[in-house]
Amino acid sequence: MALERTFAMIKPDAVSRGISGQIISMIEENGFRIVAMKKHHITLKEAEGFYGVHRERPFFGSLVKFMTEGPSILLVLEKDSAIAQWRELMGATNPANAAEGTVRKRFAESIERNCSHGSDAVETAAGEAVYYFSASELL
Ligand code: RTP
Ligand code: MG
Repeated sequence: MALERTFAMIKPDAVSRGISGQIISMIEENGFRIVAMKKHHITLKEAEGFYGVHRERPFFGSLVKFMTEGPSILLVLEKDSAIAQWRELMGATNPANAAEGTVRKRFAESIERNCSHGSDAVETAAGEAVYYFSASELL
């Protein structure tokens, strides 16, 4: 296993419900090092770019609206196999399919309002981290 970094978001639904602290606790309890973290209200342009891969999907408009409805918390996390490990801790996209003890099983209200984001590959993790953090914030 190799030490790896992933990009994570605590989405607007979780921030507005006041459960971001519980999610950050889960991150730390599961052995991730928080490399960088900030609260940021994602703009329409940023959300459209960030989720550009889903542009043709029927849920794209709704997803962009959701992601811009209030501030998110953006993080870069470090751990052995961080990308897969964070996706495992988040659980399945649809909370109905998420395993016990995962973020989405515990907190998500729906397949869209699912509390958290995690990069899905090494290339996307690197690209997403620099989308929101400068090099000096990623030491
Ligand atoms: P994420 O990118 O946010 O970490 O989530 P993911 O990989 O588990 O899921 P993905 O397929 O990349 O979808 C991105 C986000 O779009 C919303 N979504 N809504 N209504 C729907 O059918 C639907 N499907 C996906 C969710 O917020 C999902 O996390
Ligand atoms: Mg995804």
